Amino acid sequence: MAQTGTTYPRWIPLLGGLLGSTTCGLLLYAFSVFIRPLQAQFGWTVPQVALAYALICLIFGLVTFPAGRMSDKYGPRIIVLIGSLLMAFGFFMVSTIKPPTPEALAAGEQATSQLYLLYLYYGVICGLGGGMVYLPPISTAPKWWPDRRALATGFTVVGLGLGSFIMAPLATKMIAHYGSALPVFKYVGIAMGIMGVAAALCLSLPPAGYKPAGWNPPAPAGGGVAKAYRDYTYEETKKTPQFWLLWLAYFCGSFAGLMVIGLIAKHGIDAMSIAYRAKEGLDAAATIPKPAADQIAMAAAGAPATLAIFNALVRIMIGPLADKIGTKKIFVVLFSLQVIAMLMLFPAGKTAAMLAAVAGLIGWNYGAMFTLFPATTLQYYGPSAQGSNYGLLFTAWGVAGFFGPYLGGKLQAMTNSFFMPFIVSAVLLAVAVVILATLKAPEKKTV
Ligand code: 2OP
Repeated sequence: MAQTGTTYPRWIPLLGGLLGSTTCGLLLYAFSVFIRPLQAQFGWTVPQVALAYALICLIFGLVTFPAGRMSDKYGPRIIVLIGSLLMAFGFFMVSTIKPPTPEALAAGEQATSQLYLLYLYYGVICGLGGGMVYLPPISTAPKWWPDRRALATGFTVVGLGLGSFIMAPLATKMIAHYGSALPVFKYVGIAMGIMGVAAALCLSLPPAGYKPAGWNPPAPAGGGVAKAYRDYTYEETKKTPQFWLLWLAYFCGSFAGLMVIGLIAKHGIDAMSIAYRAKEGLDAAATIPKPAADQIAMAAAGAPATLAIFNALVRIMIGPLADKIGTKKIFVVLFSLQVIAMLMLFPAGKTAAMLAAVAGLIGWNYGAMFTLFPATTLQYYGPSAQGSNYGLLFTAWGVAGFFGPYLGGKLQAMTNSFFMPFIVSAVLLAVAVVILATLKAPEKKTV
């Protein structure tokens, strides 16, 4: 595919980003839908299945770093191509794991040996592939859109919200239809492969010095003789304290967000059940009749669905604003709102509408990070080494994804309440507000 000159339709790399990120969305954020069906089919425990998710977050998040470096070096297409084949292969291979016979299951036999295959296929292979698909478009699209960098970045991450929004109901319907989660891995795995290859074909680097027709870089403020500025190299970037402060803020925001995303539906069920028992004059341990319990579960499921919609929308909608006013003010406002949302989450659990409203706000603030952090990296260090720079910064999400949901579950179990994990989240986010409010852009490098 030719990609030189200013006439090349530059929406093509955006389409690549949209397709690639949607495969990652199919892969990641709807995993909770599989937990119970896999548990029922294989006899695994919930923490055993959940470990596969922690693994994929860690590996996905860490692999973005070499993936970004390789993309800076070899271009995005080959990295995304290899990544999407790996991701599709891993996802498809989950469908080949053999469940125990119903008799063995009834006798309490667990297919623990097969559990390692889940870790290998989903956690390791999909994690490797996913990180290779996720990062390169983020560093590529803004190079085609120097005039709308944050918006272009938004297009390359919007699919994370979109894909999970598609996958949760799709997988639920397929599981009900086939009576098993395994066909979902088979068919969606094939679809992922096709979408990932198409994404790779849409991605290429613009020629050196590319400028869209009719656009010139803005003149430096203050007039006078313009200095010639240059981008930071990757080695220079990682020596700046700002980079590591951004890493810490990203870690706090992701840790809090992922911890809460994993708990929000369960919190709703818990809080609405307590409210139901109080209203009906039942005692605290009384079993709720099935129709009422089903209604509560459905009402609580509105929270993750609302969270997913706002998590997707914000990624695009915040782009034009960030292009206009920069990222700092938006960061401070959204992270402060996230502190408030975390404090409101515990009391909001009592009613479905309040819970969904707070979940929407959390999704909005959480999703914005995936446009704002890469856009800030671009603002501070320039596009030349964005793959390496942002790849390293994104490892904050991987580490947070491994420990956040685990610690959230532990805190909830230890205190037998959701209050503690939400308060810990609020404190972490407050730390991030302080960092982001006091952060100053590093000095520009001159030639
Ligand atoms: C995102 O949501 C994968 O967490 C990353 O964009």
